[in-house]
Amino acid sequence: MEIQEWRFRRQLVLVPLPLQGHLNPMLQLGAILHSKGFSITIAHTHFNSPNPSDHPNFIFLPLSVGFSSFTPFRDDFIAFLSILNTNFETPLRELLTQMIQKQGQDDKLPCIIYDGLMYCVAEITQSLKLPGIVLRTSCAANLLAYYAFPGLRNEGYLPVQDSSLLNIVPGFHPLRFKDLPAHSFSLDVMLQLMATLRDTGSSSAIIWNTMDFLEESSLEQIQKQFQIPVFPIGPMHKIVTAASTSLQEEETSCVKWLDRQSQNTVIYISLGSVVIIDAEELGEISWGLAKSNQPFLWVVRPGSIQGSNWIELLPEGFREAIGERGCIIKWAPQKEVLAHAAVGGFWSHCGWNSTLESISEGVPMICRPCFGDQRVVARYVIHVWRVGLALENKLEKGEIERTIRSLMVDREGEEMRQRAMDLKEMAQLSINKGGSCYNSLNELVEFIASS
Ligand code: UDX
Repeated sequence: MEIQEWRFRRQLVLVPLPLQGHLNPMLQLGAILHSKGFSITIAHTHFNSPNPSDHPNFIFLPLSVGFSSFTPFRDDFIAFLSILNTNFETPLRELLTQMIQKQGQDDKLPCIIYDGLMYCVAEITQSLKLPGIVLRTSCAANLLAYYAFPGLRNEGYLPVQDSSLLNIVPGFHPLRFKDLPAHSFSLDVMLQLMATLRDTGSSSAIIWNTMDFLEESSLEQIQKQFQIPVFPIGPMHKIVTAASTSLQEEETSCVKWLDRQSQNTVIYISLGSVVIIDAEELGEISWGLAKSNQPFLWVVRPGSIQGSNWIELLPEGFREAIGERGCIIKWAPQKEVLAHAAVGGFWSHCGWNSTLESISEGVPMICRPCFGDQRVVARYVIHVWRVGLALENKLEKGEIERTIRSLMVDREGEEMRQRAMDLKEMAQLSINKGGSCYNSLNELVEFIASS
């Protein structure tokens, strides 16, 4: 598409949620829209700040929210969102007001693109009469699951009884009650959050890091429900080569280790940027990996094992048992790892970014969801796209060993790998010229330009 002069003048202010799984897609979106000629400003918190030198084309405006770090987990997450939104509102409002005052007469007002969980922005854009667009960083099915809570509660399904956990939620096949985000968060705080999200007004459009062919039916339902334009433009990380968006240093040396392994033999394990496990689970995972006899690359994030800094609690004798067959690191260049020919499977917590990255490289998964959207995503990976195996009981080394071998060695895993490769091809077709994501992105560019 030809870049026109007016697009260079049109300023987009991007407001990410300051957590790794949300910063990544927002910075990817920034890189995509910059390549289309827009000027990109990132209004972000001081803590978990992206590194400006990795993105020389963006303007970074750090704003203070009165705290310098936070690692939310489960119910904490809702409290975190509430404090963050309350404290971010005033500095962001002041910043946008100043931007409006500095504008020339012929300049268009800045357009604000904000993470759906930065809900304070909706009120600001409405009162300042600025165009506002939401970026959704999880799958469309997840939002539908959230919006189902009030209705399910009114019909007496919530809170979920233990005897109903495995039942399918009426109207939400293939989700079971245990897959609903309401099951991992406390229902009351969840309903409170839903009320806030509903009350803060609506955006003029939704950008989605998902693909039409993966979520056609969910996207159609959302379109009907919200009555505003929906632009599914994922997988965003495949559209432009964006700079690193990691908040932690990537251990690129693991790629050399991967180079020494045979094709499709390595299982890559990462539970994302938030999930925490305990020492017992660490022990079961360790011996499951050891007994599986497969080579593995394992990301153990510092602080992700309760009661330790890093891998001090690995069981005795484990290192000797695995020798050179395993590589343990603190943080991986994940997209590069998943694209490596040696990687044949991904044991994941099913964060949406990790899932899209896996699908985009044709890598089948072992799904170990923990909370929030992860169970919804896992259910789709396993039962709709059929590119993953479940690991959902209490972690036990024998089951881990069997699941890894099913994925990496057995015919079942081979068939999943083939289906994952088909999805990879479809993802590529959707971003190629004329594909659905390509078209949706062009429509988004026109929409922003005219808003
Ligand atoms: C959180 C929630 O857990 C998730 O459910 C929600 O969908 C997004 O926010 P997170 O735990 O950060 O997600 O997982 P995920 O969405 O998969 O994002 C993690 C990102 O970190 C991915 O883009 C992944 O490539 C990157 N990553 C992860 C690395 O670069 N290196 C690593 O070692 C691990």
